[in-house]
Amino acid sequence: LRTALLFGGRSPEHDVSIMSAAHVHRALDPARHEVVPIRIERETGVWRLCNPGAGDFPVIAASLGGVVSLAPGSGGRLLDADGREVTHLDVAVPVLHGPNGEDGTIQGLLDLAGLPYVGSGVTGSAVAMDKDVAKRLMRDAGLPVVPFLTVTPRRPVTYAEAVAALGTPNLFVKPARMGSSVGVGPAGDAETFARAVAAASAYGERVLVERSIVRAREIECAVLETAEGELRASVLGEIAPAPEHGFYSYDAKYVDADGAGLLIPAELPAATAGRIRDLALACFDALCCEGLARVDFFVDPAAPDAIYLNEVNTLPGFTAISMYPKLWAADGLPGPALIDALVGHALA
Ligand code: DAL
Ligand code: MG
Repeated sequence: LRTALLFGGRSPEHDVSIMSAAHVHRALDPARHEVVPIRIERETGVWRLCNPGAGDFPVIAASLGGVVSLAPGSGGRLLDADGREVTHLDVAVPVLHGPNGEDGTIQGLLDLAGLPYVGSGVTGSAVAMDKDVAKRLMRDAGLPVVPFLTVTPRRPVTYAEAVAALGTPNLFVKPARMGSSVGVGPAGDAETFARAVAAASAYGERVLVERSIVRAREIECAVLETAEGELRASVLGEIAPAPEHGFYSYDAKYVDADGAGLLIPAELPAATAGRIRDLALACFDALCCEGLARVDFFVDPAAPDAIYLNEVNTLPGFTAISMYPKLWAADGLPGPALIDALVGHALA
């Protein structure tokens, strides 16, 4: 198979994508995949071919060649800047996080080009990327979500209004359409609230304000759709951010090597774990996901039955510290087998 590895991207999660792509690259079995690495530039969104023979992945990622593109109706023919065919792709593995990659935009382009790809299509990608829309769909499906409200330029909300609506002075503020905790922060008074809303607004007009669950446990479940259309939920993992980080922030994830620990399997009563896995599958369907997703939960330590869906990542991190590949490895599906399953679903 000639397999395009799409990474980088016009996204604040560009660097995370490169870390993820390194691990996916390693898991693509050279006996089955002729990898065509394509780096999408952060500022311009231009696609550049990389030299697959450059060596280790960081070197491959830096070995930028010519500009390439996929045209509508091309059936996977990759063209250079002069419109000449560079190669003919069979499948794309988008290892892109956040806007312009995980949100349905690339998926629409690949659909128009007629190139099969790993993961959710336009709808699932767009819906899951948008925490406001996703939470409304989860609520509509009867799934438990943390109480929230959405702030927009046309519907501004004061701290006092948010406290009254959500029933606690401890709030969490997030951009509606972003990942890796970029732009996310707690707010405990009017001043921190105003600052947090302004910071989150830098990433888009809509901002989510949620009730903060005190010392919430963060539990994650990996979902995989087989080529036959069966859904599998993995064992559960728990995120244990180091106390100095307070929550699972960008720095706790990717900057501080000891910023967080992953506990696999998460220590939970069997009935609670079973309920979380069922909720993960129901959520995957409610948000029209395909192929793969990591579904993230909060569990209230003060009320162990209180399980809340937090969010769904349709192209979850594949970095050295990332939960999705670790959960499947713990469940008997190591990296190469996992990538084969994902590509198998894409081509089914
Ligand atoms: N958005 C990051 C990559 C994750 O969910 O793992
Ligand atoms: Mg996310």
